[in-house]
Amino acid sequence: MIPAVSLRQLRKSYGGNPVLNGIDLEFRPGSVHALLGPNGAGKSTLLGCLSGAVSPDSGEIRIGEAVYSGFTPTEAFTAGTAIIYQHFQLVGSLSVAENIFLGSELRGRAGLVRSAEQRRIARELLAGLGADFDVALPVERLSVGQQQIVEIARALRHEPSLLILDEPTAALSSHEVETLLALVRRLAEERGLAVIYVTHLLREVLQVSDEVTVLRDGEVLWTRPVTELEMEDLVQAISPAAEGSVAERQAVVGERLLELEQLDCSFTRGVDLEMRGGEIVAVFGLLGSGRTDLLETVCGLGRV
Ligand SMILES: Nc1ncnc2c1ncn2[C@@H]1O[C@H](COP(=O)(O)OP(=O)(O)O)[C@@H](O)[C@H]1O
Ligand SMILES: [Mg+2]
Repeated sequence: MIPAVSLRQLRKSYGGNPVLNGIDLEFRPGSVHALLGPNGAGKSTLLGCLSGAVSPDSGEIRIGEAVYSGFTPTEAFTAGTAIIYQHFQLVGSLSVAENIFLGSELRGRAGLVRSAEQRRIARELLAGLGADFDVALPVERLSVGQQQIVEIARALRHEPSLLILDEPTAALSSHEVETLLALVRRLAEERGLAVIYVTHLLREVLQVSDEVTVLRDGEVLWTRPVTELEMEDLVQAISPAAEGSVAERQAVVGERLLELEQLDCSFTRGVDLEMRGGEIVAVFGLLGSGRTDLLETVCGLGRV
């Protein structure tokens, strides 16, 4: 199959430091391709090259038959790439339909915006994404998950061949995450889009992707089909040799400052925790696991 998008020897340096060190990658139609890597690996720079925000120093970006050595955001858009940023680019006071057409309004004679037609097409776009909220509503009245669907609808209006999602679930509730993951699968399977999915949530990688690429220090460490991967491979891939540094760390442990014993918060139950001066305690858990609830209760914002 011809890849929707392929990269050949893509390079980018900042101030003499190579950030992308000759990247070769293929993104195929109908495939969700997860991009993983530790902080600083070059993921955002790579996405920037594809969205036109960053211009590569050398190398090629092939989209279908066309070959580019780099492009502006407008050229990237015309070439068929669309990116959904983690922070949405929506205008809260404008309606759903106005946001979908922002910057590329449908205009009739005398330059007037054809609002009714925009609303009709917006409704169709949303319906195609399985959403049916009112396209006349200001975007600020929507939930974060709905706003993201508006972003996706706007991206799809130009029928891209590549859709890029950069950490798309960071601000979503767990229910919205499931909806988004299902939608991403559908966009790949039913419309044949190539999707690049950047996340650090490994469970999502296994759930949504077909292929996984790990970047490290500006290079492709490996690309593998998800069916050949275990959670353990992913954990190893994104945690660069951090061993050692932990053993060397020595907390100056002082007197006991806080002790929780079988603490029940609003959602979180039976927490035992002891903290001493000089310690940094990490509270780890998935979205919705009760971390905030626990901390709020400790601060007196929630009832014990
Ligand atoms: N505009 C820039 N100017 C200078 N250095 C940059 C710039 N953008 C990224 N970098 C550097 O490039 C490296 C890769 O960054 P980035 O692509 O953001 O990685 P990732 O998204 O994988 O965390 C980092 O060391 C970062 O500091
Ligand atoms: Mg990044």
